[in-house]
Amino acid sequence: MPVKNSELKGFYKKSTDERIETLKEYCQLAEDEVSTLKDLGSLNQVLGEKLVENYVTNMEIPMGIATNFRVNGRDYLIPMAIEEPSVIAACSNGARIARISGGFKAHATESIMYGQIQLVNLGDVNKAITEILLEKENILKMANEMSKTLSKLGKGAKDLFFHTVKYDEHVLIIHLEVDAGDAMGANIINSMAEKVSPFIETITGGTVVLKILSNLTPLRVVRAQATFPKESIGGDAVVDRFMHAAKLAEEDIFRAATHNKGIMNGIDAVLLATMNDWRQAEANAHAYAAINGNYGSLTHYSKDKNGDIVGSIEITLSVGTVGGSSASNPKAKICQKILGARDAKELEEVLACVGLSQNFAAVRALSDEGIQKGHMALHSRNLAIAVGATGNDIEKVSELMVRSGTINMTKAREILEELKKGR
Ligand code: MEV
Repeated sequence: MPVKNSELKGFYKKSTDERIETLKEYCQLAEDEVSTLKDLGSLNQVLGEKLVENYVTNMEIPMGIATNFRVNGRDYLIPMAIEEPSVIAACSNGARIARISGGFKAHATESIMYGQIQLVNLGDVNKAITEILLEKENILKMANEMSKTLSKLGKGAKDLFFHTVKYDEHVLIIHLEVDAGDAMGANIINSMAEKVSPFIETITGGTVVLKILSNLTPLRVVRAQATFPKESIGGDAVVDRFMHAAKLAEEDIFRAATHNKGIMNGIDAVLLATMNDWRQAEANAHAYAAINGNYGSLTHYSKDKNGDIVGSIEITLSVGTVGGSSASNPKAKICQKILGARDAKELEEVLACVGLSQNFAAVRALSDEGIQKGHMALHSRNLAIAVGATGNDIEKVSELMVRSGTINMTKAREILEELKKGR
């Protein structure tokens, strides 16, 4: 169900209860879903013990909402789970600026991915390729038996590709091409690769070692774009500095790593809130950033004829709206409902826009006032809590620390002690 408007003016000024009330209204949350959000222990011991081994407890991580998102003409509220201050504010700010010129446009391709089968001890690699190709239809049929649902949808295993390796001429790598539909793909592709491996060994006489998906998905890719008006970011001078910062990430690996880390700040936070596997997203994105042999930026920026910034992102993402861990985690399910993506492609499109927005906001701040001022002001609250401030003291210690210009643990402790002495 689309949200009526994602701007949520003054959302940051509301109390936590008021924010949940807003989500209830905007996302049609039921009473029990509201209670789950309020109940900090919704992932109870019984569930926890079923989800991981050696279960002890749950780690708490704050979840907030990025506002202002408009993607392909539709408004979204974006749940983000992250320990770092400033990320959600920056992401919302980037989306606010993109919104001025209509928001983001995004497009995700079909969910094509590869399972890799490593076949070793072959006499003649070319002979093995011929033997496998002669049985190709049988191999694909056998793989598709692992998912009746994908087959019914006309998806599933589609083709086979081969490549050889430099380290051993008796080794063949078989790529099983699979359209994973609305699934992330790992479970189904791994099952397919394991299913067909014994048959491939029989027809070739080789031995299968690895049979596992590749987390690099160059055919499951999302492109998104937005225009950021120059007036909204401080005019031509800031735009010029912005372009310098953006260009550096395209050719300098040291900057590109940090630039792309900023993109993943946003994407990972949404993946965590919706309980998707963010480690595979990291692996995928960084491998894709180096797919041409040089690691570079996942976003690109240029100026249009008005001097406004046109930003784009091209990123490989494989996230699912079916299967996976989301279904067994009550809050992740609610986060999926809040986000409201109807299928995997839509989720991937929104994620790419989150990455672009996050990156635009970081690079804008870096090319203008820098990020430390805002970041440290927020971090000062963490420090206040860390030295034992509670209730109103958290804000007081944080404010006095920012005013003093020294934001560290020692200063926080000193201020808290003085506050307590003064009572
Ligand atoms: C910090 O978590 C992320 C940034 O360093 C990203 C960037 O430099 O573009 C601010």
